[in-house]
Amino acid sequence: MESPLILINLKTYKEGIGDRAHRIAAAAETVSAESGVTIGIAPSFMEIHPLSRHYAIPVYAQHIDGISPGTGTGHILPEAVKLAGAHGTLINHSERRLTLADIEAAVSAAKRVRLETVVCTNNVPTSAAAAALSPDYVAIEPPELIGSGVSVSKADPGIIENSVAAVRKVHDGVKVLTGAGIQSGECVKIALDLGTHGVLLASSVVKADDPEKVLRELVSLL
Ligand code: G3P
Repeated sequence: MESPLILINLKTYKEGIGDRAHRIAAAAETVSAESGVTIGIAPSFMEIHPLSRHYAIPVYAQHIDGISPGTGTGHILPEAVKLAGAHGTLINHSERRLTLADIEAAVSAAKRVRLETVVCTNNVPTSAAAAALSPDYVAIEPPELIGSGVSVSKADPGIIENSVAAVRKVHDGVKVLTGAGIQSGECVKIALDLGTHGVLLASSVVKADDPEKVLRELVSLL
């Protein structure tokens, strides 16, 4: 059976840049090797290349623009992200929202360069709309719970269940992740039991004094 995915978004936390990004990536690599669970990391753009070179875990961009090589000053070129070593990319994170047209362009561009796509959504209808674009994953994250320390798995299991059903109805091959407040093995297990393929999380790992300890707890019930 395919391993679940635990994807750590380092956001722009000061605890997730430079040496601290390396520390989290090293912890993820260790726990992934021990547990057999796939643990990915989405660092700042500056860290995509070094983390991809130093660690065996999959590295994701936090965003790409749906552009082609050429005149795109200041944009994030999918080809450059791929060449830097990224395995995939987040698209439309709640903290980096796009229009529907921009999401479609970004998904197409990611497919062009073979980057795995994780399209983030904020509710059930947007999850269904995202699934219609055939990304690899739709990641449902209720914005009000992001960074709150309150887990979506416990506070709003209905949104997970309904998103899984909505995505399946539109496109059976699209996998679902969930996120917001995920902090324990129990949160991860509930999410998987509700039909997801894994979780997207940030603060519980990035801000932890001991990220390896938290990661071990997160995979403990899998
Ligand atoms: O991308 C993950 C994220 O938005 C959830 O953040 O801190 O609630 O785990 P957090």
